[in-house]
Amino acid sequence: MKRLHAYLLLFVLGSLAFLLVACGGAEEEVAESEGAESEDGEITKLVAGTDATYAPMEYIDEDGEIVGINIDIVDALAEELGIEVEYRNIGWEPLFPAVDNGEVDFAVSSITITEERQKEFDFTDPYYVANQLILVPEDSNVEGFQDLKDLRVAVQISTTGHEVVQKLLGETSPQILAAETMPLAISEMINGNADAAVGDNATVHEYMVSNPDVAVKTIEDDEFEKEFYGLMVKKGNTKVLDLLNEGIQLIKENGKLEAISGFDINEHLDE
Ligand code: ARG
Repeated sequence: MKRLHAYLLLFVLGSLAFLLVACGGAEEEVAESEGAESEDGEITKLVAGTDATYAPMEYIDEDGEIVGINIDIVDALAEELGIEVEYRNIGWEPLFPAVDNGEVDFAVSSITITEERQKEFDFTDPYYVANQLILVPEDSNVEGFQDLKDLRVAVQISTTGHEVVQKLLGETSPQILAAETMPLAISEMINGNADAAVGDNATVHEYMVSNPDVAVKTIEDDEFEKEFYGLMVKKGNTKVLDLLNEGIQLIKENGKLEAISGFDINEHLDE
């Protein structure tokens, strides 16, 4: 009988210890990226989060790999720095908390540097220029941004495209269809649930050229301001920020950034 008690006690204690370890471990996993440092504290690997639904900038290819112009840019700077970068497809809205809670070390996702976002995150130097572009059915009468005033407009939620459309139609306008991804926003337009879609030029343009059988056209408007993409890190993470900036500087100097993006970012910055 005594023996049985002792066994029971051991069993209960053992289970408790197991539970404690299991729970503790789980908590840490969420809070820490799997980036790595060498013994002397130098960064050797970073984990980058993205929303890989934004061809040609960041998307999943036929082999299931995260690829795109932004990925090429980060790979190029990582090569110059001699570090490894692992990419994770996090999604758009969850990307911001993922950077904030340290699940990823930085975000690369065509993220426009805005004053609003700079309050909560730190951004690298701008490395890519973009602007909003309107996509409408080929037979649409829309000629410019102001023509969208009485129409239903699809955007990707919480993007700069969403913001500009909110400014035109009102922040909570029921005419705005805010989809989880840009391809879904474009589908709303193709299906007739929206009259137009608004998003970053490269992605909107890519949709049109890769779907030649869909009768759509793009509309530019000077009203749209220039937007600059930056890599985004947790506020105050100067170690990662400085390293990424150093990498951007290196691929500016060796011409790789220009070769990948097709333009000289400095020309746009000087204006
Ligand atoms: N440049 C826009 C913004 O920052 C859209 C970026 C969307 N990126 C993406 N991978 N879905 O709001």
